[in-house]
Formats: sequence, structure tokens, C-alpha cells
Amino acid sequence: NEDRFILGIETSCDETAASIVKNGNTIVSNVVASQIESHKRFGGVVPEIASRHHVEQITIVIEEALKQANMEPSQLDAVAVTEGPGLVGALLIGVNAAKAFAFANGLPMIGVHHIAGHVYANQLIQPMEFPLLAVIVSGGHTEIVLMKEHGEFELIGETRDDAAGEAYDKVARVLNLPYPGGPHIDRLAHESDGEIVFPRAWLEDDSYDFSFSGLKSAVINYMHNAEQRGETVNPAHVAAGFQNSVVEVLTTKALRAAREYNVKQVIAAGGVAANKGLRASLEQAFADEGIPFYVPPLSLCTDNAAMIAAVGDSMFTAGVRGNLAMNGRPGMPL
Ligand code: KG4
Ligand code: ZN
Repeated sequence: NEDRFILGIETSCDETAASIVKNGNTIVSNVVASQIESHKRFGGVVPEIASRHHVEQITIVIEEALKQANMEPSQLDAVAVTEGPGLVGALLIGVNAAKAFAFANGLPMIGVHHIAGHVYANQLIQPMEFPLLAVIVSGGHTEIVLMKEHGEFELIGETRDDAAGEAYDKVARVLNLPYPGGPHIDRLAHESDGEIVFPRAWLEDDSYDFSFSGLKSAVINYMHNAEQRGETVNPAHVAAGFQNSVVEVLTTKALRAAREYNVKQVIAAGGVAANKGLRASLEQAFADEGIPFYVPPLSLCTDNAAMIAAVGDSMFTAGVRGNLAMNGRPGMPL
């Protein structure tokens, strides 16, 4: 009954990250090198710049994760790496670093789905209980996932156009807020003493899918019309109205899904799960419903490698082993 130690590596987007996790639930070290400063002036992640940063940072970050854990590679049981989805050039840096590390140290390697990582971030906080509903909201994803057991993901709803975080970032741009815009809109919405009411895209009665591009266009049109009429816009009111629309739709659909599937636990995951308005709304809805609801702390909501190691541990325990033929899979299905 020995402890297991998994090295996790994550490079799917704009964070270069490595972490060592013990037994799938305890962080031993967790290192994240953010590139946000380099992408800021472009208002979004530039793939080529992301790849270059990953190349520069990956070895340093892995060495730092070992150093902070005070461990040698020989003490590890496996290397888990984000195999997809994500930017192909970015994924390849992590996958190839993992291959080299695994080969040099005679360790098995395991390919992890990035979204599974966001879900398993919760395992670092408390044990998962099934059936479990995961609300995944990030810059690239908006999904409601049902899990009946470890490693089994059933996609019951997803966005048909923009991801929630993408809508946040685009709306932030028209409000002249810095990238990434989510936290700035969140702050403005909280300070606001009013709101401009924007539409909610409910889609079909029984659908758990989302659509945020209509909402985004409504905000852009509102800004455009105000400018043409020479009216001054209260950005806080716009932020509050936009956020209320996103939060109401996400909360309503998550609650309906939790009831339909009779889940024992609801978790939120992904960068947008850091949103104060969304957290408060989901907390209230599930407290009223009597279903335990959890969100990992901010540092585990956004991209990190501890969550990848947590999934890796579950796969390792289930006997999954990858090999050195692994490739980056930008469109990897859950
Ligand atoms: O999970 P993540 O770090 O990267 C992806 O895998 O996409 O999520 C990043 C996204 C960005 O769109 C960012 O604007 C959004 O999460 N975000 C927020 C907040 N903090 C980060 N959105 C709304 N409110 C926040 N407080
Ligand atoms: Zn992510």
C-alpha cells in the first residue's frame, strides 16, 4: 500500500505548468508560468507566441516542480500530460517534454484530456461522489458533464457557438478592458448600481446546450448604437447586464440537469468558475436544493498541472498506460 506520485504537465494554452500530486488528491508541488503579459497587447492568445514561451519555460518549470517537492525522478510512478484539446503547437511542447522525461527516467506516460483535468481539480479539495454533475466554463469550453464513475464522462450540454469565457473576453474588448476580460467584467458588475438588460438564450425547452454569441452581439450593438447617438455608456451597467444573463442561464440549466439526473454532487470548473457572480448564484441555487456544490480555489480553477496529475493518477490506478507514439490532439473528444 505505497503512495503514488504523478508528475503532471500542462501546456495546452497559455500557461506552462508542472506539478507533483500524491495519490491523486494531495498537491506536493504546483508550478505555473503564466504568459498573460505577452498576449495582453494582442487581446488574446497568439498561438505562435504561446509555443515559443512553452519551449523556453517547460524544462525550468518541470525542474522547479521536482525541486519544490524535494524529489528525484526515480521517486515518481508516471508522467501525465495534457494530450488535448488545445493549441496544437502548444500541446506538442508538453507532450514531447513528457516523452523525453518518461523515456529518460523509465516511467510510463499517460495522456490526459484537458477538461477532465478541470473536473478533477475538485478531487484535490474533496473526494468525488457519483453521480456527479460538472459545469465546465472556461475560455474554450462551456459544457455540462455527467459522471457516473471515475473516468466516465457523458456530455449532456455544450455551447453551440462561443464559450462563456470567450464571450467575457470579447465583451471586455468592446468595453476597452484589458485581456483576459473575465475578472474585470466580474469586478465592474459587482460595483454596479444598475444594469442594462440583455437577452438570455434558453434554446429548446429540454436542451442543456448554450449559446453566447447572440448575447455578445447584443452588447456590441448596444455599444455601437450608443456611440452613433453620441450617448455616454455606463460600462458597469453593461458589465452587470451581460454577467447577469450568463449567470442566470448557466445556473438555471445546471440546476435542471442536477434534478433530472439526481446527482449527489455538483462541481464547477474552468477559469470562469472563478467568477464571483456565478459562484454566488450556483452556491445559492444548490444550497436551496440541498445538493453539495464545490468550486476549487482560484489557482486550481484556471489552467494548472496539478489537475492533470490528478486525472493521471486515476487513469494510472485504472491501468491506463500511454506510449512514446503519443501526439498532441487539438480536437480530442472527452
Ligand atoms: O480555464 P482557463 O484558465 O483557460 C482555458 O482553458 O480556457 O479560463 C480562462 C478564461 C478566460 O476567458 C477568462 O476571461 C475567464 O476564464 N475568467 C473569468 C474570470 N476569471 C477568469 N471569467 C469571468 N469571471 C472571472 N472572474
Ligand atoms: Zn482550461
